Amino acid sequence: MPLKLSPSLLSSFIITIIFFSEPISSSISSDDPVWRTIEEFSGYPTHPTSASLPSPSFSVDTETLQNQIDELATFSDVPAPAVTRVLYSDKDVLARSYIKKLMEKAGLSIREDAVGNIFGRWNGKDTSLAAVATGSHIDAIPFSGKYDGVVGVLGALEAINVLKRSGFQPRRSLEVIMFTSEEPTRFGISCLGSRLMAGIEELADALKGTVDGQNISFFDAAKSAGYNLNHEDLKNVFVKKDHYSAFIELHIEQGPILEEEGLPIGIVTAIAAPASIKVEFEGNGGHAGAVLMPARNDAGLAAAELALAVEKHVLESGSIDTVGTVGIIELHPGAINSIPSKSHIEIDTRDIDEKRRNNVVEKVHQSAVSIAEKRRVRLSKFQIINQDPPALSAESIIRAMTIAAEKLNLSHKLMISRAYHDSLFMARISPMGMIFIPCNKGYSHKPEEYASMEDIANGVKVLALTLAKLSVD
Ligand SMILES: *[C@@H]1O[C@H](CO)[C@@H](O)[C@H](O)[C@H]1NC(C)=O
Ligand SMILES: *[C@@H]1O[C@H](CO)[C@@H](O)[C@H](O)[C@H]1NC(C)=O
Ligand SMILES: [Zn+2]
Repeated sequence: MPLKLSPSLLSSFIITIIFFSEPISSSISSDDPVWRTIEEFSGYPTHPTSASLPSPSFSVDTETLQNQIDELATFSDVPAPAVTRVLYSDKDVLARSYIKKLMEKAGLSIREDAVGNIFGRWNGKDTSLAAVATGSHIDAIPFSGKYDGVVGVLGALEAINVLKRSGFQPRRSLEVIMFTSEEPTRFGISCLGSRLMAGIEELADALKGTVDGQNISFFDAAKSAGYNLNHEDLKNVFVKKDHYSAFIELHIEQGPILEEEGLPIGIVTAIAAPASIKVEFEGNGGHAGAVLMPARNDAGLAAAELALAVEKHVLESGSIDTVGTVGIIELHPGAINSIPSKSHIEIDTRDIDEKRRNNVVEKVHQSAVSIAEKRRVRLSKFQIINQDPPALSAESIIRAMTIAAEKLNLSHKLMISRAYHDSLFMARISPMGMIFIPCNKGYSHKPEEYASMEDIANGVKVLALTLAKLSVD
C-alpha cells in the first residue's frame, strides 16, 4: 500500500482502539507484523500521540445488499412478501447456490460440510491462528419474512466486502458461515447445523431415526439436496474447540425494544435457552351430567391447574428473565358434554440462568405429581424434550462490539437475546457475541418482518469493525 494514500478510517479505528483499549505493552512493538500492516495501510505513524485520528465511516453498498436480500427472498415456495424456504427443498438448494456464488464473488474460499453448513474463508496473514467467524441462517419457516437470519449471512458477506474495499488485511482468517436449518420446520430440530458443529453426539445418533412429516428420512432428504452422507460423516461436522477464536452473529432483534427506545444497535450479553416439557394426565372421563363432582377425576382440570402452577413457579424465580409459557393444552375427547379423560400440555420455560430455569422445571414436575395425586388422575407422561443450557457472550467480544458502536457514533444498549440462535451452540466451541438491529414493531416469523436498510447498514458496519478488531487481536 502506498503511504501517500489518504488515511484509512478503518485502520485509524484499529490503531485507536488498540491504543485505547490496551496499554502499550511489549505485545505491541513496531516490529509486530500486524502493527506494520496497519501502519503501512493507514499511513499513520504507529505512535500513541496519533490519538486525534478521524473516526471510521467506511461505506456499505446498501443498494447491492438490498438487491441481494430481495433476490434471496425469491427462492421461496410461497408468493412475496411471504417467504417459505425449508431445509433441503428445491428452493433451499437454489438459495444455497446463490450464497456460494456471492462468497465466490467476494473472493472467499468455499467449503461445505456433510450436512451443508457453508463456509467462506478469507485467509488472514497468519493462517496458523484460529479464525474469526460470523454468520447466521437463510432457512425460513412457512410464511415468514426475508430478514430473519438473512441479515446475518448477506450482511456478513457485505462486512467482508467493506473490509476488502477499505484495503484491510486480516491477521486471523475471517470466515462467513451459513448454517444449515436453524429453524426446526422440517425435522423438528432447531439449529441442526450449529448443534452438530458443537459436537453434540446425541443429535448425530438421533438423526439416524429422524424422518419429516412425509416420512422422508434425514439422510434421504439430504441426498436429494446433493448431500450424500452416511451416519459416519456426521462426525466430520463436529468442530474442535480451538478452531475459532471468536464467533459473532448479526441478527434482527425479533423484539420491539431497540425500535421503541430509538437505538440502532443492541449488544447481546446472553442468550436465553428453553426447556420444553410434554405432560399428560389421564382420568376416567364420563358424562358431563351424570358424574357428580365428588366422583370426578378430571384430566382437563389437572392440566389447567398445572398451567397456573407454571406461571406461579416462573414468577417465584425472582428474576424478570425467567419466563414460562403453556402454548398447548389438548383435551380428549374434546366434547362439551364429556369430562376430559386425557389432557396433553406443552410447556416452554426459558432463562439466561440455567440453574434458575432448571429449578422451575423441577418445581413444575413436583406440581404435576402433587396435582395428579390431589385430583386422582394419572400422570402418564412428564417428558423433558430439550433442556439446552443458556449462553453468555464473551467479555472480549462484548468489548469489541461496544467499542465498534462507539467509534461509529451509534447509540446502543446491552441486552439479552430471548430468542435463541445458532450462536447459542457456537458458544459451546468458541467465544461468542451477537449484534442486534431494530426490526419493525419487533415482528418476525411473518411476512411483515422488516428492517430498514439504514439499520442493516449500521449493523454491517459494527460487524465489520468488530471482525477487524478481533482479527488483529
Ligand atoms: C415410514 O417409512 C418406513 C421405511 O420406509 C416404513 O417402514 C414405515 O412404515 C413408514 N411409516 C409410515 C407412518 O408411513
Ligand atoms: C462521531 O461524533 C463525533 C463528535 O460529535 C464526531 O467528531 C465524529 O466525526 C463522529 N464520527 C462519525 C463516524 O460519525
Ligand atoms: Zn434467525
